[in-house]
Amino acid sequence: MDGEKVTIAGWVQNIRVLGSIVFLKVRDKEGVSQVTITKDNPNFSMVKDITPESVVAVTGVVRKSEKAQNGWELIPEEIKVLSKAEVPLPLDISGKIESEFETRLNARFMDLRNPRVAAVFAIRDCVTTAIRNYAESKGFIEVHTPKIVGAGAEGGALLFPVDYFGKKAFLSQSPQLYKQMIMATGFDKVYEIAPYFRAEKSDTSRHVAEFIMLDVEMAFIESQEDVMKFLEEGIKRVFEHVKKHREEELSILGIELEVPKLPFPRITYSEAVEKLGLKQGQEIGTEEEKKLGKIIEEEKGTGLYFITLFPEEEKPFYIMEAGDGLSYSFDLELGGEEIASGGQREHRYDELVKRIKKKGLKPENFAFYLNAFKYGMPPHGGFGLGVDRLVQKMLGLPNIREVVLHPRDLKRVLP
Ligand code: 4AD
Ligand code: MG
Repeated sequence: MDGEKVTIAGWVQNIRVLGSIVFLKVRDKEGVSQVTITKDNPNFSMVKDITPESVVAVTGVVRKSEKAQNGWELIPEEIKVLSKAEVPLPLDISGKIESEFETRLNARFMDLRNPRVAAVFAIRDCVTTAIRNYAESKGFIEVHTPKIVGAGAEGGALLFPVDYFGKKAFLSQSPQLYKQMIMATGFDKVYEIAPYFRAEKSDTSRHVAEFIMLDVEMAFIESQEDVMKFLEEGIKRVFEHVKKHREEELSILGIELEVPKLPFPRITYSEAVEKLGLKQGQEIGTEEEKKLGKIIEEEKGTGLYFITLFPEEEKPFYIMEAGDGLSYSFDLELGGEEIASGGQREHRYDELVKRIKKKGLKPENFAFYLNAFKYGMPPHGGFGLGVDRLVQKMLGLPNIREVVLHPRDLKRVLP
């Protein structure tokens, strides 16, 4: 383009005044360009007043230059300041001066001007694209279930109440009941990527009150193994897609992404507690889960594995019992943390009512859901996968909030 007239627009990354010459670095989403202004240029006097991070549009002629970082420079005819940035800036986007995470979240619009932070969100986009491509390629259709609901599905304590025209309603904590009801419609493979809400009172690095979940439900399965196969292949595809399409972002983050091999190891809950030296029936807590992650990593060389056949007591009412106090359920683990839960559902009406009662719940409260099991409901199963957690663990980030644009937690509802 040497000698061509162009306009570039973006943020002023840097201004360097060297006596009779000024270098303006302008950043847009493609990269950084150098604008060179010599003393004889009519813009020379105004350019010194431009503040860092202001938005400018520069029209000028492209010139080859061996000294410029990317091999060319722009000789400006006109420099327009489209938006002047105040001084000082809320944070240093170069990352040279580290900012408190709270400061970064308060000025997230500016935090994302840091290429390392932007890389995370570009990768996140690639993850959801890969999920959609994969699900569609396997004949799944995307559905949209309600986010304002009249009943919880995953245990009552964690619901956010909503004043719904004077009646009590809740923000949905999962699409569980709705995706199952669709299994009675003839749409036998569905998925949804959507926000869910849980009033988590615990302040941890892996919980937020609003998170994005991938939900999948499939009918006419023979066992939960069908669901696990779909999930593990999907995870592999996601890793492959990110590796292929976000090479630059991964290198900015210094991450060498390893595509996992199929099949992922499967260990039963019973084997897991044995490895951990716990009693059968005991819950695997956060710390034990991490420890288990290390043990399996050593034994099998991967952080991605399934734990299957949990005690039915630990799993929600909709899960099918497997006898001996167990259930057809699984968790998918990555780096010592659960990223997905799923299993085969109880599709037999009478058994389902029994399970609801067994959990101390009232079948009347689930009448709308139970109805769908009275008139022909095929065997089915599915899972819910935390998209935020998947991205966090995939990139080895210490806190889930790093991958959420505007995290919602105990302290934060703004911005
Ligand atoms: O394990 P959970 O509660 O399972 C369900 O919601 C079932 N309906 C799934 C099914 O189809 N059987 O949630 C699923 C996943 C978790 O593994 C986790 O990755 C994510 O959702 N998740 C959260 N992520 C961030 N913050 C929170 N507060 C989360 N709660 C769950
Ligand atoms: Mg779970």
